[in-house]
Amino acid sequence: MDYNELFSNIVHRSKASAIRELLKIIANPQIISFAGGLPDPNLFPTTEVKDIFDTVLDKSAKEALQYGATEGQNSFKQELVRMLKETERIFVKPEQILVVSASQQALDMTARMFINPGDSIISACPTYLGALQAFQVAGADIVGAKSDSNGVLAEDIEAKLELLKKQGKPCKFIYLVPDFQNPTGTTIPQERRVQILELARKYNTFILEDSPYRQVRFEGKSPKTFYELDNGQGNVITMFTFSKVFVPGFRLGFIVGPEDVIRKFVILKQSMDLCTSPTLQLATAEFLRRGLLRSHIEKMVSVYRQKRDLMLEMLDEHMPAGVSWTRPEGGLFLWLTLPDHMDATKLLHKAIENKVAYVAGVDFYPDGNVFNDMRLNFSYSSPEQIKEGLKRLAQTIKDNL
Ligand SMILES: Cc1ncc(COP(=O)(O)O)c(C=O)c1O
Repeated sequence: MDYNELFSNIVHRSKASAIRELLKIIANPQIISFAGGLPDPNLFPTTEVKDIFDTVLDKSAKEALQYGATEGQNSFKQELVRMLKETERIFVKPEQILVVSASQQALDMTARMFINPGDSIISACPTYLGALQAFQVAGADIVGAKSDSNGVLAEDIEAKLELLKKQGKPCKFIYLVPDFQNPTGTTIPQERRVQILELARKYNTFILEDSPYRQVRFEGKSPKTFYELDNGQGNVITMFTFSKVFVPGFRLGFIVGPEDVIRKFVILKQSMDLCTSPTLQLATAEFLRRGLLRSHIEKMVSVYRQKRDLMLEMLDEHMPAGVSWTRPEGGLFLWLTLPDHMDATKLLHKAIENKVAYVAGVDFYPDGNVFNDMRLNFSYSSPEQIKEGLKRLAQTIKDNL
């Protein structure tokens, strides 16, 4: 039986994620991995979660264990409305929220909602590779806009919008990770956000705002979200996830946008998975109701700040001349650039031989033509592993300069 003749075009367009594949190779415990984007599992609020499950099952087992509404559980959405108001000055009705199975589902759904094969979208270059994967599966032509140390350049977004206009192709949306971007750790300043939003209006498109790391800020002040800056005009759809601020295992997030667009998302989701787990929605609602999210984030921020500082210290101490890196004010990643002539993908084999791993930058570029960057994660490894791993990495780079 030859299945190849039967697969759909979607299957032929699907590409395995470099990171997911890499994670299998580096499962060897002797390898110190800065590759994944995983939260520190020692910080998971396990005791609180156990207690919350008890409460949910004692009080609301019939709702928690039943099928739920596709839109999401009412009691959970009420908590989300409150959280958005208190933490982000975002004022929305429950009808503007759709609960989803974390932001990767939101990305997949947005791709299905807006992209026909061959349609164009704009993204920062580099950007989150799971988003690239979702958009590519839908057949998107992804136009990358250049970035500097403050994230994507508004002028280059404008140039790309103008180019698409000349070619008679609408830009379906502009995908951005504005805060502590995956992979670079950069944050788009507020003035630049305002400019980009004006461009979205001018060219009749919207910004897809994906900001899982926003609340993981170690210092400084957050610029306003694109959603807040938009002030209800409808040029922003934003997505939230509990993966990086609570637990990724719950696979829980939500999309916020204009009510009529959310209604269309709801219909799409009906055919995908009926609803996101009511059990986990009620548990998370209880976590929010008890005010535990804030204290959990505070704890996490303090641990990750120390790890970021340690990684920067080790980089300063051990990296040879010609290597540079970003100094993120939050999030889980920093971005390291090797001298132009070096190839981070080839170097990865040597690094793995030296028992240290990272993700090569090339996969984060929509057109895959930059070879000398790598992403380093600092949230998952212990301080001892960060010290030892950075020594191994610096030595690998020196040996191959
Ligand atoms: C920018 C960005 N968006 C979305 C995701 C997907 O996360 P989740 O589906 O767990 O919410 C990630 C995960 O690393 C990410 O970095």
